[in-house]
Amino acid sequence: MTQPLTIALSKGRILDDTLPLLAEAGIHPAEDIHKSRKLIFDTNHDHIKLVVIRATDVPTYVEYGAADLGVAGKDVLMEYDSNNLCEPLDLNIATCRLMTAAIKDAVMPQGRLKVATKFVNTAKRYFAEQGRQVDIIKLYGAMELAPVTGLAHRIVDIVETGNTLKANGLVPMELIADVSTRLIVNESSFKTKYDRIKSLVDALGKET
Ligand code: ATP
Ligand code: PRP
Repeated sequence: MTQPLTIALSKGRILDDTLPLLAEAGIHPAEDIHKSRKLIFDTNHDHIKLVVIRATDVPTYVEYGAADLGVAGKDVLMEYDSNNLCEPLDLNIATCRLMTAAIKDAVMPQGRLKVATKFVNTAKRYFAEQGRQVDIIKLYGAMELAPVTGLAHRIVDIVETGNTLKANGLVPMELIADVSTRLIVNESSFKTKYDRIKSLVDALGKET
C-alpha cells in the first residue's frame, strides 16, 4: 500500500504564495482551503495530503515526521534551530529581512541593551556572536511598540517595506538575515520516500 505524503503548509501570508507553486507542480487541494475550517486536505493525488497550520508549528510537524515535507519562512527555521531537517529548496517567496531596529537617533544605553522580540533564540545567538551582552524580552507581536514605550532599546523583527518601522519613528539598524520561504523535509522520509519527494522537489524547483 502506498504511504501518504503529507505536506505541512504555513497558514497566513505564506499560504497565498505557496498554493500557486503547488498548482504549477500539479498539486491541487480537493477543496478551497480559505473557505474551510478543516486542517487537513486531500488533493487531486490519492496519496498527497496537505495540513495547514501556524508557521511556527511547521518545523515541529516535519521534524517529528507527522508531515514529510513543510513550507516555512527562514526566520521560523532559524528560531526553531534544528539539525534534523533537510532544507533542499528556497521557494523564493514571502521575501523580507530579519533586522534590528531602534528609535531614530537614540543614544546607546549605559547598562545592558534591552531587546524585545518574538525571535528569542535568534536574537540571543546574534548578539552573542557580536560579543554583546543583552537582556531579551519576549513579545508575541507589535514589536515596534517596545522602544516607543520604553520597554526595550531595540527590537529584532521582520522588515519588508520598512513602513511599520517608519510609522513608529524607528529606523532599521543591523541585518541579521535575508528571509525567504523554504521547503523542508523530514530526514527519514527523504530516505524512505525518496523518489516521490525528489520529483516534488524537482517540480517545485522549476517554478522558483
Ligand atoms: P502566527 O500567526 O503564527 O503568529 P505570523 O503572524 O508571524 O504567524 P504571517 O505574518 O502570516 O504569520 O507570516 C509570517 C511569515 O511570512 C514569516 O515567517 C516570514 O517568513 C514571512 N513574511 C514575509 N513578509 C513578512 C512581513 N512583512 N511581516 C511578517 N512576515 C513576513
Ligand atoms: C509584520 C512584522 C512587521 C511588519 C513588517 O507584522 O512583524 O511589524 O509586518 O512589514 P513592513 O516592513 O512592510 O512594514 P505583522 O503585520 O505580521 O504583525 P505582527 O506584529 O503580528 O507580527
